Amino acid sequence: MARKISFINYKGGVGKTSLIVNTAAALAKLGKRVLLCDFDTQSNASIWLLKLDRWNKINAAGEGAVFSIFEPGTAKLQDLIIRDVVEGKSGERLLPGLDLVPTAFNLVDLESEYTGDPKRPPFQVFCEQLAEVEANYDFILFDCPPNILRASQCAVFSSNEIYVPANPDALSLVGFTLLVEKLQKFHQLSASFRRSAMGAPAQVHGIIFNSIKTGVDIEVPKMRMQLRLNQFKTVKRAAPNAKIFNAQIRDAMVVRRAVALGLPVALVSAEATDAGPSGDNVITDYRRLAAELVQHMPA
Ligand SMILES: Nc1ncnc2c1ncn2[C@@H]1O[C@H](COP(=O)(O)OP(=O)(O)OP(=O)(O)O)[C@@H](O)[C@H]1O
Ligand SMILES: [Mg+2]
Repeated sequence: MARKISFINYKGGVGKTSLIVNTAAALAKLGKRVLLCDFDTQSNASIWLLKLDRWNKINAAGEGAVFSIFEPGTAKLQDLIIRDVVEGKSGERLLPGLDLVPTAFNLVDLESEYTGDPKRPPFQVFCEQLAEVEANYDFILFDCPPNILRASQCAVFSSNEIYVPANPDALSLVGFTLLVEKLQKFHQLSASFRRSAMGAPAQVHGIIFNSIKTGVDIEVPKMRMQLRLNQFKTVKRAAPNAKIFNAQIRDAMVVRRAVALGLPVALVSAEATDAGPSGDNVITDYRRLAAELVQHMPA
């Protein structure tokens, strides 16, 4: 059965998209079958993996993106999946096993103009359609905006695990705290829609520190995060095995550059990956993170 995972924090700009794109790539490189669903109307993960030209066509057409499943009779999720999404210059498939459900700017209409049946909220429509494809995957990853509005609700409702990307600063801690509060509210609101086969509502299973600058000591922000996580575990608002991941992602210019190249960092040429004297670089960080995620099974 696929592990369904949302990366979310109520703090914006902490690296959710960068983490999810590169972790998805690392998992695919491990031979896992991965589906990345983009639920952020900014479309950053979609633009990154499709490159601007391919994404522009979807955005201009208003078809082929995830919003279509919420317009009755227009599209099925399984028809929107772009298989082996990462392509080279001549259309060659560079990363077999990494598929994408893209989004486009029309996803914003889900928040403001959704006129579907109130008895079938978007998160239920999505969850039903996801059920038709999930047997094809080991991991289904959801990139979310920094909120739990309708688009993120689709991700959170379908997920079994939640991971919180964080920077070593006070605002990431505030974002994590707010996230747990909002999750609780959403789980209460959506409880009547859950079927027993879906398992328990998703809780936070891990915190992942991102963009760590060389030589910067992050022990204090890490300790504060650990204390907050412990408090949530005590009151059963975080999973019993929730932890701060040992793997953390260094700050590396190549992460920013990879977006413009339309490639996950693991596929950017070796000389551009900021390898230190030991040859150790940010690709190793993502690889460690993916391996730790594979090991970190829900209790
Ligand atoms: N490890 C890293 N090293 C260097 N830059 C990074 C790293 N991770 C992320 N960034 C940069 O930080 C910025 C924010 O990252 P990203 O877009 O992934 O965050 P986000 O949490 O998805 O943002 P949003 O809340 O807008 O969706 C981007 O410019 C990205 O390139
Ligand atoms: Mg993002």
